Amino acid sequence: MQNKEITIAIDGWSSCGKSTLAKAMSQSLNYKYVDSGAMYRGVALYALRKGWASKNHLDKESLIAALPKINLSFEYNSSTKSSDLLLNGENVENEIRTLEVSEVVSKIATIKEVRKNLVQQQQKMGKEGGIVMDGRDIGSVVFPNAELKIFVTASPEIRTKRRFLELTNKGEQVTLEEVRKNLSDRDKLDTSRKESPLIQVDDAIVLDNSNLNQNEQLVLALSWVENYFDNKK
Ligand code: CDP
Repeated sequence: MQNKEITIAIDGWSSCGKSTLAKAMSQSLNYKYVDSGAMYRGVALYALRKGWASKNHLDKESLIAALPKINLSFEYNSSTKSSDLLLNGENVENEIRTLEVSEVVSKIATIKEVRKNLVQQQQKMGKEGGIVMDGRDIGSVVFPNAELKIFVTASPEIRTKRRFLELTNKGEQVTLEEVRKNLSDRDKLDTSRKESPLIQVDDAIVLDNSNLNQNEQLVLALSWVENYFDNKK
């Protein structure tokens, strides 16, 4: 008999490798993958384009009123073997990854109405199981009954270097200091906000990948999936 397809919730700090792990797990298990952070980034990009968000300003009311007009979906990209985010039908996968978006996204993610709207969509995407979703509130709010919950962590120094390389490899002009500050600001906002803050839930397994490469972290996480099914027998 085939194993029932489970729900895997991956949470953790900014730029800790959650998405890399989630994507690799979904490919190995042939599960659906959803990057919930991309959805928050999509809303942030919409607000930036409208002039409703900047480093020092946020027009919450306009953004909340526009939520029904913000349509987010994912489209498979065969060259990256991953899904790209579409914002009202436009592929914005590259644009949502810039530092400019990173600098406003966590403020936008504190808005209760934004979270409620996105969480509902995320729960719909996962209602059949067979999904790996990564973010900040997946094990705590989106899928509190997920069969496997992983909390990913790595030292701030390593996370800064990884994100700096990722951005500069794509040609973005950023300094190490800007990236360090952005990660630390987002971590602070994500853990201190009132609405579903980033927490490590009791039933999550901690994965510190400071000294693990991508394959090592994948092998470890897949062994936890196997354990789950072995314990079910
Ligand atoms: O890739 P990185 O870890 O830097 O961030 P991300 O997963 O793309 O998420 C961007 C931002 O969205 C986070 O810093 C959070 O403020 C917010 N977010 C959230 O509040 N809840 C989620 N489930 C996912 C992201």
